[in-house]
Amino acid sequence: MNTLLDIQSVSKSFGGVKALDRVNVKVNEKQVALMIGPNGSGKTTLINVVSGFYAPDEGKIYFNGRDITALPPHQIYKLGLVRTFQIPSLFTRLTVLENLLVASKVNRGESFLKAPFTGSWLKDEEENLDKALKILQLLKIDHLWDLRASKLSGGQMKLLEIGRSLMSDAKMILLDEPISGVNPTLAHEIFTYILNLRDKLGLTFLIIEHRLDLALPYVDYVYVLAYGKLITQGEKEKVMRDSQVISAYLGG
Ligand SMILES: Nc1ncnc2c1ncn2[C@@H]1O[C@H](COP(=O)(O)OP(=O)(O)OP(=O)(O)O)[C@@H](O)[C@H]1O
Ligand SMILES: [Mg+2]
Repeated sequence: MNTLLDIQSVSKSFGGVKALDRVNVKVNEKQVALMIGPNGSGKTTLINVVSGFYAPDEGKIYFNGRDITALPPHQIYKLGLVRTFQIPSLFTRLTVLENLLVASKVNRGESFLKAPFTGSWLKDEEENLDKALKILQLLKIDHLWDLRASKLSGGQMKLLEIGRSLMSDAKMILLDEPISGVNPTLAHEIFTYILNLRDKLGLTFLIIEHRLDLALPYVDYVYVLAYGKLITQGEKEKVMRDSQVISAYLGG
């Protein structure tokens, strides 16, 4: 199995707070890995560091064999490593479909002034539209294409946020709490879509989540973070037997 994302001994502090303390994470191609940890344990910081939003204080990050440590976010994005935000970063005044179309432009850093006058622009637009519609179908929100994003339910916003990340040619998606604020039925649907995307598009996922009980059936491998340190990791069966994890997450 190929390692797609390789995080080696990454640390990040904010003032006196050590948000990440020599964290090592490896995610193999087509794996769905889960990272759990209490509030403030460093989960979002890890995504921010991996996606180039913060530079790590120490450590290295490799994606697809390439050193991406401290590359700017748009370059990491272009390499196919895409993140979502804990709070969906949607354009609430735009429709569902427009949110996908805008995602592809913003992310490619296109110039709105120059682009419309070239022949390739029309072809790109057609391809983007086609792709956006396929993504909406895949996530089963195609019937909502013309609805303003502000009218979506919390769960539908999460799906649209995932949809936006698919507008790039992502190889791997880092999901920051994709089911927070979502009811359990929709949460299971969202995880089912994630597995579907893995199987159909060959994508790899690192999912950050609080709700271990909901996420566990869908993942292959689990990392547990506390106070910026990895306290345990392994196949889910092993992690579920870990007494620290049981007392912290499974109410046992
Ligand atoms: N930009 C920042 N400036 C200062 N401190 C920060 C910053 N980002 C994170 N921190 C601190 O780093 C620690 C880890 O925060 P982080 O957001 O990564 O936790 P988390 O595991 O994602 O928590 P949650 O489950 O609440 O989303 C916290 O103590 C937080 O206050
Ligand atoms: Mg967070």
